[in-house]
Amino acid sequence: MNDQELTTWMTAIRHRLHQQPELALHEIHTTALIKQTLTQLGIRILPYSGETGVVAEIGHGEPTIALRADIDALPLQEKSGLAYASKVNGRMHACGHDFHTAALLGGARLLKAHEADLTGTVRLIFQPGEEGHVGAKLMIKNGVLQGVQAIAGFHNMPQIPIGTLAIKSGALMASNDNFIVTIHGAGAHAAMPDRSQDVIVTLGQLITSLQTIRSRNIAPDAALVLTIADVQAGHTFNVIPDTAEFKGTIRTFSATNRKLAMERFYDLVQATVKGFEQTVTIDWDQGPSCVTNEPILTALIAKAAAETLTIVPALPCNADDDFALYQERIPGFYGFLGSGGTGVLHQSTYSCDDAGLIYGAKFHLLAAKTMLQAVTQGQLAKFKPSVESAVVNSLQSL
Ligand code: NI
Repeated sequence: MNDQELTTWMTAIRHRLHQQPELALHEIHTTALIKQTLTQLGIRILPYSGETGVVAEIGHGEPTIALRADIDALPLQEKSGLAYASKVNGRMHACGHDFHTAALLGGARLLKAHEADLTGTVRLIFQPGEEGHVGAKLMIKNGVLQGVQAIAGFHNMPQIPIGTLAIKSGALMASNDNFIVTIHGAGAHAAMPDRSQDVIVTLGQLITSLQTIRSRNIAPDAALVLTIADVQAGHTFNVIPDTAEFKGTIRTFSATNRKLAMERFYDLVQATVKGFEQTVTIDWDQGPSCVTNEPILTALIAKAAAETLTIVPALPCNADDDFALYQERIPGFYGFLGSGGTGVLHQSTYSCDDAGLIYGAKFHLLAAKTMLQAVTQGQLAKFKPSVESAVVNSLQSL
């Protein structure tokens, strides 16, 4: 099997996935196609209790390392104009998880061909539900990391040329916390505000004061974004409403700043609302922590990948990825692989180039071999699991 044959095989799989995109935790046909393909390759599929997602293994014995691809699509109407565009209205593989799935299947095929040379076990994780922060959490709960000592994966990037891998040691992608705040006051006639407890005035104060977290609590050279993206209050010109609501997100690259921002957020919201004699409900959705690459593993994979790929430094990306949840527990590497397409991720005109798939497959082969060797030689022994989850969980009782 040469590169061209493998590319053709992966391309056919990707186009099938692309035409039938399935949303987070509803990847029924995608799961079936992955299982069918692995079975055809003679790769053993492990029992897995989740309704979607697949876990499989190649090789034998210790150590065990893992490769991960996410498999879900987005609720978006495709406008790419591709011959193999989505056949499902309002759903699209706009983040290229079809590319990730096909490339990991290609990597599995390469690994199967090299199975006799493997010095341990390679676990393949086809993860559902990356969009919405649910998939990695669910798979970890279902035991997917049991016995695994290192993990690698990549996200395609259409703006990076094919054959290029962008890498960064340490924090690569931002943490993500989403909030919904509901202010409860008392409505009244708009001409008699003294009879109200006006939630709109409180809302206005908070929209501006919450920005002081970025400008007055976080160091100027650190990255943090706090965006209020949705505001709902009232319905007409002469009625002060009973409640007001706003939603938004906080992104940052530091566990310390993440904790600080959350503490200041709660303090500001609760104190402001109290000051206006109102009450508040804060609904906090703790998303993934930062995607944080283990430095030694990053250096080893970069060195091994340099034979096949052009290595460039990655810029930090303010998007999140629940690959971070694996990295909170075991040493991991996540890179940005060039997919040379058009548009940007999560855009209706996004596309990626199938010529990039072969590099994805080869990445998986060399990352697996590198991790097996690194674990065997004890090179990742200094890794300490992150305590960030525990810290943030303790804040949720505030
Ligand atoms: Ni994605």
